[in-house]
Amino acid sequence: MNDHYPFVLTGLPYGTGALEPYLDAETVRIHHDRHLKSYVENLNRALKDYPQYHCKSLEWLLTHTGSLPPAIREAVKNNGGGVYNHNLYFSMMAPPGQEPGESTLRAVEKSFGSAERFRQEMKKAGLSRFGSGWAWLAACPSGQLKIVTTANQDTLLCTCLTPLLPLDVWEHAYYLKYLNQRGDYIDAWFHIINWKDVESRLGRFLL
Ligand SMILES: [Fe+2]
Repeated sequence: MNDHYPFVLTGLPYGTGALEPYLDAETVRIHHDRHLKSYVENLNRALKDYPQYHCKSLEWLLTHTGSLPPAIREAVKNNGGGVYNHNLYFSMMAPPGQEPGESTLRAVEKSFGSAERFRQEMKKAGLSRFGSGWAWLAACPSGQLKIVTTANQDTLLCTCLTPLLPLDVWEHAYYLKYLNQRGDYIDAWFHIINWKDVESRLGRFLL
């Protein structure tokens, strides 16, 4: 995507049905083609009359919301965060069958004790986020992995954490298939993690 205004909707790296049976094609299609598209459009709408920000990257905008005009601050934070988080989310899912590589597995075991324990902690975090938001596997500067949550479309950009793996726990991410059973969605999501990308994001901490 353009990393400046006008932002564009990034295509999915797989077909809408590629994550079946864990995430159905209709959920993926609506989530991407409607929800993410709205965030992109609303972000552009907010920035339209502010040409001084048209050359700024999404990361810059999200890390400088405090210096933006009050009239667009919230819109940029919420919609820009929506674009940023969802681009990560969609890119970090993959058709079923991927397993974590050896170095990722080692890092997960070092921080959580076991892969199973990681899954338990991630699920607990996703379930505990009241309302809408995200659960994240993230890396501290020391390389220690941790699981955190953010509300709404807040990102990890203004923290010292490097996001490794985002889990969208907004109802729009799962309601069509899983209704109000967020835990079932999270259990299914573990089958469609793009572990290759996790490993590449984790890479610099493994040196
Ligand atoms: Fe979402």
